[in-house]
Amino acid sequence: MKKNLILILSAIVFAGIQSINIEEKTLKEAFKDHYLIGVAVNRSQILQRNEAEVKLITSQFNSLTAENDMKWANIHPKIDSFNFEYADKLMELAQANDMFVVGHTLVWHSQLARGVFTNEDGSTIDSAELTRRMKDHIHTIVGRYKGKVKGWDVVNEALAEDGTLRKSKFFEIGGESYIEKAFQFAHEADPDAELYYNDYNMTNAEKRDGAIRIVKNLQSKGIKIDGVGMQGHWGLDYPTLEEIETAIEMYAALGIKVMVTELDVSVLPNPYRMRTADVSARFENTPEMNPYPEGLPDSVQTQLADRYADIFKLFNKHADKISRVTFWGLHDGLSWKNNFPIRGRTDYTLLFDRNLAPKKAYHAVIETVKD
Ligand code: XIL
Repeated sequence: MKKNLILILSAIVFAGIQSINIEEKTLKEAFKDHYLIGVAVNRSQILQRNEAEVKLITSQFNSLTAENDMKWANIHPKIDSFNFEYADKLMELAQANDMFVVGHTLVWHSQLARGVFTNEDGSTIDSAELTRRMKDHIHTIVGRYKGKVKGWDVVNEALAEDGTLRKSKFFEIGGESYIEKAFQFAHEADPDAELYYNDYNMTNAEKRDGAIRIVKNLQSKGIKIDGVGMQGHWGLDYPTLEEIETAIEMYAALGIKVMVTELDVSVLPNPYRMRTADVSARFENTPEMNPYPEGLPDSVQTQLADRYADIFKLFNKHADKISRVTFWGLHDGLSWKNNFPIRGRTDYTLLFDRNLAPKKAYHAVIETVKD
């Protein structure tokens, strides 16, 4: 009798372990025949300060992007000095774990070092000097990580919302050919690296068409471009699945790879999308704008899981066009969305919670690749 009970009990435990094993397939295992699954890592993770975080990163993901440490301000803080310390460490972490490294990012109007556009006397540099500085920046960094960084976000956020080129300093000083030059310099420094154009709101029709113009212009001049990155800072109800699908199809039709490079799904009200009368009130951290400081209600947790499932079902349908999906941060507590576009809110954008535990959305995403 006792023996039987033990047998039954151990059978139950065994079945339980088995189902946990199936359920707990990691992201990179689950999507291995579809696309790479990446994560943006912060400095503490690059330095491997927290063992649990590093373990989660290396077990779940097969691609790494530095969330900040390879941006101009950090890697090239002064005109004549570079800081490779963190990027070097990132390469070590990636190499030890056989991960695909994305270099983010070479030419961007934000998080730039001071003085990039000024001469010693304080005057603004001319176009020839900008070209020299871009060449030095790109050749030095891409050259150093030749063969290690497999794909570069060469130019980031060069478009305005209406699809015209953003009137950044790069554009004002260098004219529209600054984009071509950036891609050419990157290609010279590492002919084997993939080169990408990356931006947000890449699903909005006007901006999408602007990105398509950038790609076609490069292609018409014989300049190498391998893919576009749709950042993917999305919400529960935007963009629509149709908008995402159309964008994927239109970019892929150019003969290039499509990537979702900075995925996070905010559950909070988006002040940019709210048509309130009082414009000044929009960016304040009011209780209305920060509804879940103590935890996410189950109903919203489920909504988030459903939204993630819908998005990944769509990605899977177009797995032949998508080469990588990268999450912008490891867990909810580290998401930049807690501070953008309003500081000090509590958002729940990612697949792991603040204690590193997989959320309902994690299981829902894995579920999309189950037979
Ligand atoms: C963000 C980082 O996540 C933050 O830590 C930083 O303070 C600001 O930049 N588009 C990009 C990313 O290409 O580099 C940005 O990352 C988010 C928007």
